[in-house]
Amino acid sequence: MPNNNPWYQQSLLELSNHSSEDIHSLLTLASALKRAKRQGSEQRYLQGKNIALIFEKTSTRTRTAFEVACFDQGANPTYLDSNTTQLGDKESVADTAQVLARLYDAIEYRGFAQKTVETLAYYAKVPVYNGLTDQSHPTQMLADLLTMQEHSGKTLANLRYAYLGDARNNTAHSLLLTAARVGSDIRISAPKALQPDPKIIQQAQQLAQQSGAKILISEAIEPCVLDCDFIHTDIWVSMGESKQAWQERIQLLLPYRITQDILKASQREDIKFMHCLPAYHDRNTPTGEAFYQSHGMIGIEVSDDVFTSPASIVFDQAENRMHTIKALLVATLCPQLPQL
Ligand code: CP
Ligand code: NVA
Repeated sequence: MPNNNPWYQQSLLELSNHSSEDIHSLLTLASALKRAKRQGSEQRYLQGKNIALIFEKTSTRTRTAFEVACFDQGANPTYLDSNTTQLGDKESVADTAQVLARLYDAIEYRGFAQKTVETLAYYAKVPVYNGLTDQSHPTQMLADLLTMQEHSGKTLANLRYAYLGDARNNTAHSLLLTAARVGSDIRISAPKALQPDPKIIQQAQQLAQQSGAKILISEAIEPCVLDCDFIHTDIWVSMGESKQAWQERIQLLLPYRITQDILKASQREDIKFMHCLPAYHDRNTPTGEAFYQSHGMIGIEVSDDVFTSPASIVFDQAENRMHTIKALLVATLCPQLPQL
């Protein structure tokens, strides 16, 4: 049979490296796998496959999404971190890649530099999945797209969404590039100092010329949120950044905190709130409590009343991490895309 599966043996380093058509096919597979699991009719396409999961940063969703996707599909995951392996200290990324590729069918990697995941993919010669770097978060994008499709019933090219907050981080960069690739209308609102890297903006603009995506990047909030389907945000200080950054970040980003007023400014009754999580939305973390003590507000990047409101779809978004990661594993490790 001819190989008609464009994902077979591919790595996922940044979602916008893949065509809009291939992204659509992966989301269709994710929906089908989600349905099959709910109906109790899921088939195991990954029996006997071994998957290495490397985490140089902490994780709840990405790790468990990969692990549960493996369990459901009959694959065997191994969790590796940099404290208990030779990676990073005694052994280079290139050597680690070549060793793991002898034992595993695919490798997930979460860490710091984008270059590291690229080096891993270059040497491993098995699919490598970027589970988050300082620059990008492509598996998150798959979940975000599926969640936006499900909640709006719109095609990807008709989605209109805003991102407010630290727009130089991995999530914001990937949202921008993903929208540019699939042709959505994306608006990013952030203070000048925290707007996306100019190189990423340029890349997004080039992609938008082919896809018809609309891109607005502005300090002004209202034009960005007006008539949007979804408003996204993310934590204001990302993993790997210094805790010292908090003070300056809070000063710059307070106007961009997602509150009921920001939702109202969309002028959409059906506006939805999204966040990749973890979120500082209440007083139940030391940082959330310290913010309450210093600023008298409950929730940092998002107020608790927004996070817990019916507009918030963050847990649907979190669940979709697993269904989309499962689709990624199946699509990259099975020569033919299952027709479900
Ligand atoms: N959204 C996300 O990547 O969550 P984790 O850091 O828990 O994996
Ligand atoms: N920007 C956040 C995303 C967490 C999933 C971080 O890198 O910490």
